[in-house]
Amino acid sequence: MINDSFHYQAGSLWGDGVALDTIAEAVGTPAYVYSATRLLNNVHRLQTAFAPLSPDIHYSIKANGNLALLRLLKDAGLGMDAVSAGEIYRAQQAGVDPAHIVYAGVGKTRTEIAYALAAGVGWFNVESHAELQLLNTLAGETGQTAQVALRLNPGIQAQTHHHIATGHFGAKFGMTPDIIQDILAHRADYAHLHIAGLHIHIGSQLGDVRETVEAVRAAQALAAPYADMRTLNIGGGFPVHYTASDEYPPPEAFATALVPALDGWQLMIEPGRSIVADAGMLLVSVLYIKEQGGQRFVISDGSMTELIRPALYDAIHPVIPVRVSDQAANHEAKPAIVVGPVCESSDVLHRGALLPPLVAGDRLAVMVAGAYGMVMASNYNMRPRPPEVLVEGDTWRVIRRRETWQDVLQFEM
Ligand code: LLP
Repeated sequence: MINDSFHYQAGSLWGDGVALDTIAEAVGTPAYVYSATRLLNNVHRLQTAFAPLSPDIHYSIKANGNLALLRLLKDAGLGMDAVSAGEIYRAQQAGVDPAHIVYAGVGKTRTEIAYALAAGVGWFNVESHAELQLLNTLAGETGQTAQVALRLNPGIQAQTHHHIATGHFGAKFGMTPDIIQDILAHRADYAHLHIAGLHIHIGSQLGDVRETVEAVRAAQALAAPYADMRTLNIGGGFPVHYTASDEYPPPEAFATALVPALDGWQLMIEPGRSIVADAGMLLVSVLYIKEQGGQRFVISDGSMTELIRPALYDAIHPVIPVRVSDQAANHEAKPAIVVGPVCESSDVLHRGALLPPLVAGDRLAVMVAGAYGMVMASNYNMRPRPPEVLVEGDTWRVIRRRETWQDVLQFEM
């Protein structure tokens, strides 16, 4: 998807004020490229949409945790949503005040909870009764009072890919309403906890606003008897448009439905994808073209080890040429299967990209790849992970260098 930041200029693709060819020539391919402008515009859009509720926004680090991006987001006034002590550490390294970190996750270890308590994170999003008891014990041992939001599993099936739906009964996430009710009735038993809010996150890339509203209503009903429980964290899940034909509700649609529903409540949100997805793309180069069995395979140097989303979720990331030298070539665009070098049939970047005639060395852009791209990259097939580049206006810099074979082997003995 083309946007204000990634756009064609005189037949070649640019990221804001920098030609992507310039970056590819300097750092090679595959490489991730992010636009600082787009990132901050996305933040601003969410802030504006939810402004009537003065939301407390915590960026979900899991979507893309690069330190340079975290610093930009921290400077834009965002807190962070961490799902492991490692992510808390990462946020601290980016200079984030731990009081502005919420710590979530269905399987926090004792060591991780102790780390989070020592760091002084602002909120624990707790997902089970046993975790609540452990947190109470550990907080007591260190003489602290931990602020807690209980994660509700409202029993709502979100319209999204089944791998990323989390709000239905049968999912491992959150606690069912009966359990939450019971905990709230016995809040006083937890001497070292301040149970001050509820948390819901029914899924990612949500297709329908109404399910979120329904989940909010369920949480409000549980909190209603307790006048000091008026903080509601609704998680992330705001969808993005991967292709031009995607019809997902924009953040404004969520805000329109939620602002009246949340009057008198302190809203917290944990967006990841909606902030970083379309601020990033993956640059790859064509290695070979292979026509057989009625198919045109474009074999690129990028693969499922850089971007696993097409293989894992059948996700569609538009693949477009970095250079469209002449209009005629565009008219000859034909479907192609864009694949990588990895030894798996699932190693596909796009199953039906419409691409002009290509030759080895041509560069392609895999779009809307800023979220759940680099963070899910692997070294499978002994492939060093790619570099990450940040474009800021008409300048750019490497914010993570390409791994080497030696980097990959360094932990083995
Ligand atoms: N809060 C909680 C509790 C979450 O579990 C998640 C995402 C978020 C916030 C951020 O959600 P977002 O705004 O990004 O939708 N790897 C998958 C997505 C996994 C999402 C996991 N949880 C993908 O590539 O689509």
